[in-house]
Amino acid sequence: MSSAQLEQHHLDLQQLQQVFEPPAAIQTRAHVPSIEAYRDMYRLSVSDPNKFWRQIASEFYWHSKPDGAEEAPILDYNFDLSKGGIYVRWFKGWRTNICYNALDRHVLAGRGDRVAFYWEGNDPEDRTSITYAELLQQVCRFANVLKSNGVKKGDRVAIYMPMVLELVVAMLACARIGAVHSIVFGGFSAGSLADRIINAKCHILITCDGNWRGTKLLSLKSIADKAMSICIEEGNPVVTCLVVSHVKRPRFGSDEADGDSHSSKPGIRPAKDCPVEMLAGRDVWWHEAMAKEDISDDCQPEWLDAEDPLFMLYTSGSTGKPKGVLHTVGGYMVYSATTFKFSFDYHLEDIYWCTADIGWITGHSYVVYGPMANCATSVMFEGLPTWPDAGRCWDVVDKYKVTTFYTAPTAIRTLMKSSDAFVERSSRASLRIIASVGEPINPEAWLWYHRVVGRSQCSVVDTFWQTETGGHVITPLPGATPTKPGSACFPFFGVQPVLLNPETGDVIEGPGEGYLVFAGPWPGIMRTVFGDHPRYEQTYFSKFNGYYTTGDGAQRDKDGYLWVTGRIDDMINVSGHLLSTAQIESALVEHPKVAEAAVVGRHHDVKGESAYAFVTLKDGATFDDSLVRQLLVIVRERIGAFAAPDTIQEAPALPKTRSGKIMRRILREIAAKSENYGDVSTLADPGVIETLVALRTRQV
Ligand code: PRX
Repeated sequence: MSSAQLEQHHLDLQQLQQVFEPPAAIQTRAHVPSIEAYRDMYRLSVSDPNKFWRQIASEFYWHSKPDGAEEAPILDYNFDLSKGGIYVRWFKGWRTNICYNALDRHVLAGRGDRVAFYWEGNDPEDRTSITYAELLQQVCRFANVLKSNGVKKGDRVAIYMPMVLELVVAMLACARIGAVHSIVFGGFSAGSLADRIINAKCHILITCDGNWRGTKLLSLKSIADKAMSICIEEGNPVVTCLVVSHVKRPRFGSDEADGDSHSSKPGIRPAKDCPVEMLAGRDVWWHEAMAKEDISDDCQPEWLDAEDPLFMLYTSGSTGKPKGVLHTVGGYMVYSATTFKFSFDYHLEDIYWCTADIGWITGHSYVVYGPMANCATSVMFEGLPTWPDAGRCWDVVDKYKVTTFYTAPTAIRTLMKSSDAFVERSSRASLRIIASVGEPINPEAWLWYHRVVGRSQCSVVDTFWQTETGGHVITPLPGATPTKPGSACFPFFGVQPVLLNPETGDVIEGPGEGYLVFAGPWPGIMRTVFGDHPRYEQTYFSKFNGYYTTGDGAQRDKDGYLWVTGRIDDMINVSGHLLSTAQIESALVEHPKVAEAAVVGRHHDVKGESAYAFVTLKDGATFDDSLVRQLLVIVRERIGAFAAPDTIQEAPALPKTRSGKIMRRILREIAAKSENYGDVSTLADPGVIETLVALRTRQV
């Protein structure tokens, strides 16, 4: 280390202990301008949730409310299994439409000309934008296309698309007519897409020809074709597949480049074709369906009960089978919008950019619904933070004068590994709030984000939440909360975190570490697992009766700050993607040579965690590079490339207790190259450890 680096290192170590006060410039205009103001609002939100959320709900458009709604409680729930089934209802009987609140409400208020999205393509020369009024017109037309294809209220619509504006149109069109969208992230394999289509009983799929990720062209339609073949075999055929032509044709929107998404500057985007096979009678081009003369620009929204389903989104389950997390219209609308407003201290003059893919919950709540309910102007990005180089994000920040930037620790750590010169070539003068989500952010990454990206002048907002929570549940507020690097700080309004002793289940008051659970519901909490309510009760409410269990551990320090430490179940978090180890294991054992597999997480400097697989082969089989390659292909095909283990090692035997339970704790230690195996007295054969350690050298 040079002396300058050493000095910086000491400074950073000191800062790790430091508390960062909200910057004065942010505090002055903040919705919640002090920690005392936060505490007052928080107290009301938990002591009188009816009063607190009724006031907030009055900012939205409700088409009708039942008689006596002004006096009746807006919340009804049961978290106690001994008293019957678990349920949560907010604003039951109140009728609204989230699409109307995200579009019509703003257009009718004279804000139709505001830009809803600046779309930035993978290619830095490729851009377009769309206003709220334009989006409303597209959404109404597409809602009519859906209706003309027989889609009705309550039907599930599968969506498998990259980050293109048509994805937003498709979601809002579903929401407008009361259809339930089920978006499958574009990185999932044909098998995973098919599983989700079948589980949700979808008969309509919306997809895209392909998309660019850096220099790679991904052919989404051909993956969708494979998925649709599986769906036929499984007796759940897709009847209509609408296909967006993104790679080949100019997009809609007000192009600011040369209007043709193909005529990019030479050398920036390789000229490649994206062949698409269209099956007559099933596959329909989006632009052809939208251009039909009998498709109107008017579409009355369906007035839905606040507790009608809005969307489902699959998340990994610790038993291996993904769960369709179901969110409903009213509570989710109020919660995603309110968390967006307060966590990012949103004001109309802000330009907001969340880098998450819409295929994950962060994209649902904080690319689409939360920002749009606030009439925000956002950047939507198709590409990668590292392409054409590691300065892309900061170039985009300058290009659109982004004030609020929201990304994941894995992206921060990737960019941190490149030279700071990539950051410093931009001014980033517009930035005020820089936020993070998806996994614990290590204090070093937090400090780099604050000092280098934020020029020590921005609020860093580390938001903890889950697919299931619908929106932020633990987060600092930019103008109110003094932050500590690595801590998500305090609960959002209406959220009551509790730490429980893992052994006794007793509540830990004051400083300590335990299971993170929540007492009582906030409006955005999931309502059920699609088609499997018992699984909802079992997964989230049976471990500690009376509480919603997150599956994470957390510490509370002497000042009451919460530090989420990570999963305590058999899930791993790879680059912010939650993966079930059981799901990877079941893919590995599909190989005819594999008898058994055990997957654990191992610390990774950039991804947070990576998957490390131990495989036991059947008698006579040999472990070699070709087998490893085949195993990786299976995982990629069954789940998706992001789930592929970084390491696969041979395990002639696995460390098991006498009752046959795999001791994953020991596998984690072996994977981490730590010699700290703890108590091994319950192992049936302690010699296994030595064998596995010796075989570590034969990894790929
Ligand atoms: O383990 C926690 C981690 O991500 C999990 C939720 O993953 P998912 O449902 O895919 O949603 C990700 C985006 C909301 C959590 O159980 N996690 C998420 N955010 C944080 C986090 N862990 C620590 N700090 C965070 N800010």
